[in-house]
Amino acid sequence: MFRRLPDAAGDTITFTIDGRRAQAFAGDSVAAALLLAGVEHCRTTPVSGKPRAPYCLMGVCFDCLVTIDGVGSRQACLVPVREGMSVETQQGKREAGR
Ligand code: FES
Repeated sequence: MFRRLPDAAGDTITFTIDGRRAQAFAGDSVAAALLLAGVEHCRTTPVSGKPRAPYCLMGVCFDCLVTIDGVGSRQACLVPVREGMSVETQQGKREAGR
């Protein structure tokens, strides 16, 4: 389980994860916000269906792919979370155009 450092502070924003309301600090990456919200995996692999979660947190591993505001396969570690953002975990491969 991930927790913020005790002295962390910031403006709180609200967004959704698979339709559930969640909160983060402005400036958090989507990946950090997911981990802080207790999301254990953000996608499953297209071939084996194995769960994946953010790993490198710097844009290298692609294990953090999620759908953000309807656009699939976004790297959650490279996108700052915004007020009202819709984040969906990905199960398997995305359809074309998503
Ligand atoms: S966590 Fe590795 S690319 Fe996002």
